[in-house]
Amino acid sequence: MFFHMIELTLQNRMNEVKKLYESLSLIGSLSLAISLPWIIYKALHLQRSLNNLFGKVVVITGASSGLGEALAHEFYMKGCQVVLCARRRQELDRVRTDLMHSHSTVQTHPPIIIPLDLADLDNLVENLKKIITVTGKVDILINNGGVSHRGNVLSTNIDVDMKIMMVNYFGTVALTKAVLPDMVKRNEGHIVFISSVQGLIALPERSAYSASKHAVQAFGDSLRAEVADNNISVSVISPGYIQTNLSLNALTGSGDSYGQMDDSTKSGYTPEYVAKKIVKAVAQKKKEMIISSMLPKIAIFLRKYLPSLYFFAMARRAKKSSLK
Ligand SMILES: NC(=O)c1ccc[n+]([C@@H]2O[C@H](COP(=O)([O-])OP(=O)(O)OC[C@H]3O[C@@H](n4cnc5c(N)ncnc54)[C@H](OP(=O)(O)O)[C@@H]3O)[C@@H](O)[C@H]2O)c1
Repeated sequence: MFFHMIELTLQNRMNEVKKLYESLSLIGSLSLAISLPWIIYKALHLQRSLNNLFGKVVVITGASSGLGEALAHEFYMKGCQVVLCARRRQELDRVRTDLMHSHSTVQTHPPIIIPLDLADLDNLVENLKKIITVTGKVDILINNGGVSHRGNVLSTNIDVDMKIMMVNYFGTVALTKAVLPDMVKRNEGHIVFISSVQGLIALPERSAYSASKHAVQAFGDSLRAEVADNNISVSVISPGYIQTNLSLNALTGSGDSYGQMDDSTKSGYTPEYVAKKIVKAVAQKKKEMIISSMLPKIAIFLRKYLPSLYFFAMARRAKKSSLK
């Protein structure tokens, strides 16, 4: 249409150009008239959903740094009572102080700290009981705490596979199971799993991490179906790279800390950006969400519809690896 208009202009057929322009403006006005109410409705609906978060009890694991810390700020700003969980008590204290000082004008509840180790399965039920004793209930559980992996299969000790699976999968599952009976009894609740793009596509030298996140995805999908009748929502969130300490804290094949900030992590989204998106998704009870640039989305598409191309690309990546 646009090129046709240029052609007519060049031929000096101005009357036809005018008519074409008028019909185009009519189409533009019509589509605006149809889409504007929809956009306004969506914006109001989102605002209403965000307002509904006020006063909710939100338990966040891995709240001592990175994405968990950013999520604590976002939920706190929405007026939620946040319960901060992780192993390092000092860091949790820092996050709590930061929350209370940075948003002193927000009408909200003081944050609560519950130090816990996701690998210590036996104590997770006790820790959850402690939370419920203080808050009376858990409205939203954000399963965010996790650890990554750097190393190829051949040189990774089975202990490392087990440790990563324990924290990312079994710890998450145990805490979810601990919170569920109360949610079922109250006939409401929301369980959120922070998975990863690597829960949908596996990368070389991340076997334990990718496997644990694939397991989390599958667990979330099964659970969603099972608790649909109990008015319990399940959201599985799959972010791409985020600028956090995840690669620094990742375990190598021998179980040491990797200790390096990967370029991909350094150039990822900010935790604040991802946290804002997650809070909106939680407010709207989205069942799943991928938060990434185009490349991981293309890789997910290829893995499903053109697997041989995906396998080829991953083999090339493994060949070029610096970890060898
Ligand atoms: N960064 C990324 O590029 C990226 C991308 C996709 C998904 N994710 C996911 O986002 C989540 C948060 O990671 P992050 O990026 O924010 O990295 P991070 O800064 O290293 O945070 C990891 C958090 O998990 C906690 N944690 C680790 N081991 C734990 C254990 N045994 N028990 C309890 N808590 C434990 C840590 O706290 P303590 O050390 O105090 O226990 C910390 O608060 C993870 O599930 C990760 O897989 C990250």
